[in-house]
Amino acid sequence: MTYVVTENCIKCKFTDCVEVCPVDCFYEGENFLVIHPDECIDCGVCEPECPADAIRPDTEPDLEDWLEINTKFAEIWPNITIKIEQLGDAEEFDGKPGKLALLSEKPGKGD
Ligand code: SF4
Ligand code: F3S
Repeated sequence: MTYVVTENCIKCKFTDCVEVCPVDCFYEGENFLVIHPDECIDCGVCEPECPADAIRPDTEPDLEDWLEINTKFAEIWPNITIKIEQLGDAEEFDGKPGKLALLSEKPGKGD
């Protein structure tokens, strides 16, 4: 199994999650983060750290699409291990439905 980042991270990107990961397996896009499924050791410590409640174990139902998205972008986006400033409109977008359509495929800056 692995943990995956899901829809509510999009346009928020609080990045509290990256600070606690013992194996530094988060990868950064322009407005979203993903977890590398082959690197995640399933420790679960990132899940309660996300203010947007966007991190889930893939053992929960209906997460196949998110596992695919995490797998795809973890291969091409840069690694991020240090918290950065949240996106400017993060509070506004926290909890908004339909954010998948806003997912940017562009890479973030990484660290
Ligand atoms: Fe990192 Fe643990 Fe979260 Fe996996 S579950 S991404 S290893 S903190
Ligand atoms: Fe995203 Fe939550 Fe991390 S909003 S960047 S998964 S802390």
